[in-house]
Amino acid sequence: MSAAARIESIQAREVLDSRGRPTVEVEISVAGGWVGSAIVPSGASTGSHEAVELRDGDLRRLRGRGVRQAVGNINHLIAPHLVGQDAANQVTIDALLISLDGTRNKSRLGANAILGVSLAAARAAASAMRLPLWRYLGQGRVLPLPMINVISGGLHASHNLDFQDFMIMPVGAASYSRALEMSLEVHWAVHDLLLERELSTLKADEGGFGPALPDNRAALDLLMAAVERAGYRPGDEIAFALDAAATHFYRPEQGRYDLASEGRMCDVSELIDLLAAWVANYPIVSIEDGLAEDDWAGWRELTDRLGGAVQLVGDDLFTTNPQRVRQGVDQGIANAVLVKMNQIGTLTETLAVIRLAREAGYRPVISARSGETEDSTIADLAVATNAGQIKIGSLAQSERLAKYNQLLRIEDALGAEAQFAGWRDLSPAGSRSAGSAVG
Ligand code: PGA
Ligand code: ZN
Repeated sequence: MSAAARIESIQAREVLDSRGRPTVEVEISVAGGWVGSAIVPSGASTGSHEAVELRDGDLRRLRGRGVRQAVGNINHLIAPHLVGQDAANQVTIDALLISLDGTRNKSRLGANAILGVSLAAARAAASAMRLPLWRYLGQGRVLPLPMINVISGGLHASHNLDFQDFMIMPVGAASYSRALEMSLEVHWAVHDLLLERELSTLKADEGGFGPALPDNRAALDLLMAAVERAGYRPGDEIAFALDAAATHFYRPEQGRYDLASEGRMCDVSELIDLLAAWVANYPIVSIEDGLAEDDWAGWRELTDRLGGAVQLVGDDLFTTNPQRVRQGVDQGIANAVLVKMNQIGTLTETLAVIRLAREAGYRPVISARSGETEDSTIADLAVATNAGQIKIGSLAQSERLAKYNQLLRIEDALGAEAQFAGWRDLSPAGSRSAGSAVG
């Protein structure tokens, strides 16, 4: 084969993620001595419809969390089939990976094994073409509006709060770099307020603060105080976004949601009432996983009630899976899709879900996982696809900053060509203008 990016070797190994847990790294060498590598992220508040992350399960080693099987699958089962292929032929490579696996949820070879190879191939092809990944992947010029974690709860912070992410969106920023500056000032203001109130400033999994607050609403009040302390107008300049991650406090046996930090169980209508009250009282423009992953009837009610006012993002609901996104679109549920590459397992399928969401008028939000690494692929993906929004975590910890910093580099490289996705520029969904959000 005369392909410029002919794969010569594939080498996988076990490395560690930001929680110190094993994950898969893959290096692919192509003709000409070019190399591409990728490291796969890992979730904690995972959805049950995600592609399968293969863990060794051998309790004698690393509590069963090792990924030696996934690594072995790459080195011994996948590599022999891919050597000689053109790394630039992403669709062919991903189709080969999917057929080698042969299962519906990538449980044989492991979605962690498959995604590592898929991304390393893209990186190897990009380097062989002397292109940065974002240029190799697409024509995009739009820096995404970040959704930045400030206060963490749920599974990422030992259940101090029921809701998982209390985030800010710097909707008043005119550029990506300015958006980061504004967000840092709010992040630091939260830090000062926590010290003044003698609350913990320790960080949760995604680098957000994980203080022991009396209830979920106290986190919103703290954010309000911090935005004002930093000198910004809530709503106009800094809006709020939530990830309830409600799957993880849903109790299927009772069909109710357990707001443990508030000492009450509520049914679906009560939880929607609570969210609606918050939307009325705080500058919230986006709510992710407001209800549990399979509560389709509840989601319908949630979308009817709030879908015209705010962005409703499906994470555990959709799991970056085209069938589930299609079902949501057909039923008019949610209006945005969280895109996590390891929920589906290949780059080609990820790009297809982004396309599918767009065509249906649903906004894509490119997202990291709570277990991350120095791999910054999602930054490149967000720009290449003009996704418009990205969710990386807090402005702390190098596994998060690897992505935020990569976006600064891309902004710099684009220079005058760089565009920034302001809230108002984002097409359909969540029609509420950020400026009118308070009240
Ligand atoms: P996870 O969290 O990576 O632990 O799933 C991120 C999210 O829920 O959005
Ligand atoms: Zn989520």
